[in-house]
Amino acid sequence: MSNRYAVILAAGQGTRMKSKLYKVLHPVCGKPMVQHVVDQVAKLDIQDIVTITGHGAEKVKAQLGAKSVYALQEEQLGTAHAVMQAADHLENKEGVTIVVCGDTPLIKAETMEALFAHHEKTNAKATVLTAFAENPAGYGRIVRNSQGHVEKIVEHKDASEEELKLQEINTGTYCFDNAALFTALKKVKNDNVQGEYYLPDVIEILKTEGEIVTAFGTNDFEETLGVNDRVALAQAELFMKNRINEYHMRAGVSLIDPSNTYIGSDVEIGSDTVIYPGTVISGETKIGSDCTIGPNSHLENCEIGDRTVIRQSAAFDSQIGSDVQIGPFAHIRPQSNVHDEVKIGNFVEIKKSVIEKGSKVSHLSYIGDAEVGKDVNIGCGAITVNYDGKNKFLTKIENGVFIGCNSNLVAPVTIGEGAYVAAGSTITEDVPGEALSIARARQVNKENYVQKLDIKK
Ligand code: UD1
Ligand code: MG
Repeated sequence: MSNRYAVILAAGQGTRMKSKLYKVLHPVCGKPMVQHVVDQVAKLDIQDIVTITGHGAEKVKAQLGAKSVYALQEEQLGTAHAVMQAADHLENKEGVTIVVCGDTPLIKAETMEALFAHHEKTNAKATVLTAFAENPAGYGRIVRNSQGHVEKIVEHKDASEEELKLQEINTGTYCFDNAALFTALKKVKNDNVQGEYYLPDVIEILKTEGEIVTAFGTNDFEETLGVNDRVALAQAELFMKNRINEYHMRAGVSLIDPSNTYIGSDVEIGSDTVIYPGTVISGETKIGSDCTIGPNSHLENCEIGDRTVIRQSAAFDSQIGSDVQIGPFAHIRPQSNVHDEVKIGNFVEIKKSVIEKGSKVSHLSYIGDAEVGKDVNIGCGAITVNYDGKNKFLTKIENGVFIGCNSNLVAPVTIGEGAYVAAGSTITEDVPGEALSIARARQVNKENYVQKLDIKK
């Protein structure tokens, strides 16, 4: 196998997106398009991945990080000009270079691997990945000669009436002999409707020079969708969503209504977990086996154990153990750590708190900046008073504590192991272990008082 290199084209503004966000950074299933492309390319055995940046260069670099090296295309003079910017990294190297557009987020590693294999087998200097499009508008068309060999690629805007009818399109992914590519790039001209240096022109240049130029067709148009506007972005989202959902279903996850289930591309889910409709699972979320999630739940960057049930709730950047029950209508905010067998009930908000094994916060509570031990019962409506308007303070609730309903725990405060807090208390001082603390006005009953009032005669 020859040395392999990759060039990712990501310098364009994406005018047709009509957006402040640079095109290749638009997310598809929660991940920027160019990140999808680089993640797939990174699965291949590639020595250097060079990403061409221009518009939003710093943001693109910050997104991709060390997975790639970068070359700046200061002015966007076309895709051939863009590839030329990789010369400092690649020009003198021997091997095969794959070029992929940063706006084709559905391209798969397997397809690129097959493209490399075809390219190497045919000893070609250039191989273009093609597909058949129902509606080829906007794509470059593959023009073949009478023997069926690829002659050239014509851009939509430069195509004749006849050429516009061609449905075989250039997907924007190609393999080139690296040396032949950089030699041919110098010969590309910009005498076309857009006044740009087109990378597809390299095909015609090499062909005219008598080199072997081939096409490798994929029968999956969806995979090669190029996103130039929001309509295509929504299509890409749908295709990617279907692909991700199918992957999880084949791996043993039940999706009650896949069309109404949104799972990010980096999410992991164990088998026999059931996902109900209206659920969004995003970021680096990992869910164990035998869980029930949804309906109508949103989980982002959460790690969840096995057999946990989360109904109609939202959880972000948190750890949730096994055999936990959350919801309906609970909110787990970042940096929370909910251990095994915990119950978080309806209308409960947990923020930056640890809740240890077997504890219950069943109804209408706010627990923020707290360390809650094992087997604690927090009664309905009890809250931690963690904020004095300026600073946040810690509430510590040790193992086996019982917090009565509607209590306020004014932090910083510690409730010692096994203590009881009477319902309706406002606790401002530490409670020793095993103590009963009552912090409320004593009840006074005024007998027959009502009869003395004027209003009731
Ligand atoms: C391009 C192809 C077209 C193909 C289609 C597949 C050209 C001339 N046309 O058209 O044949 O069918 O992709 O999706 O190549 N870019 C740069 N620098 C530039 C210009 C573009 O880095 O100077 C980047 C863009 O950021 C984008 C990619 O190259 O990621 C493709 O550019 P785009 O303008 O989307 O080309 P298309 O019109 O889609
Ligand atoms: Mg495009």
